[in-house]
Amino acid sequence: MSAAPDPRPLVVGIGGTMRAASSSETGLRAALAAAEAAGARTLCLSAHDITIPFYEQHTTRTAQAARLVDALRAADGVIVASPGYHGSISGLVKNALDYAEDLAGDPRPYLDGLPVGCISVAYGNQAAVAVLDQLRTVAHALRGFPTPYGAAVVARRGIFHEGRCIDPDVLGQFAMVGTQVAGFAARTRDHATFEPVA
Ligand SMILES: Cc1cc2nc3c(=O)[nH]c(=O)nc-3n(C[C@H](O)[C@H](O)[C@H](O)COP(=O)(O)O)c2cc1C
Repeated sequence: MSAAPDPRPLVVGIGGTMRAASSSETGLRAALAAAEAAGARTLCLSAHDITIPFYEQHTTRTAQAARLVDALRAADGVIVASPGYHGSISGLVKNALDYAEDLAGDPRPYLDGLPVGCISVAYGNQAAVAVLDQLRTVAHALRGFPTPYGAAVVARRGIFHEGRCIDPDVLGQFAMVGTQVAGFAARTRDHATFEPVA
């Protein structure tokens, strides 16, 4: 007898940096924890999981790249967390998102109709806000919808410590992203049609 499918929506988190105690990964994990508390199941693909070849359409996928594509295909919601690198999304995170191109021919292309929670962490306000905006633009390009709340966090002293977020206000921002993604994922999951508009 086969097991009944898990009724909980799947929220896939992508992001962080290779740095030990990455603050963007910390934010991602906090948002995923909130998504779980809101009833989702989650999968976190952090920097090591998305250290994969630069996206190219016609090459064979590595096992890690295939895992990323499979996760995006199965996702009911996505959370992306990027550091600000020279005023923009990191190359690592952008490359991972480029792998959504492998879903172009799927019945549900790209991230069509999925809620996408966006988190940016940078030293300065300018980069934090710019990167949040860029993540939302990519989410739109992939046919997802950025959740109403996105977190643009300035990594000042007293916010992160040894891989934990110690500022309750910032933790609340990460939680808001995760909660909104889980909520929209549950609502959109059973109503998706993916029929082309006539
Ligand atoms: C290569 C590099 C470029 C960066 N560029 C910027 C920048 O343009 N603006 C900014 O505010 N912070 C910048 N930073 C700081 C990072 O955004 C900040 O350290 C962030 O917390 C890194 O994320 P992490 O803690 O997950 O590693 C840069 C850091 C690195 C390593």
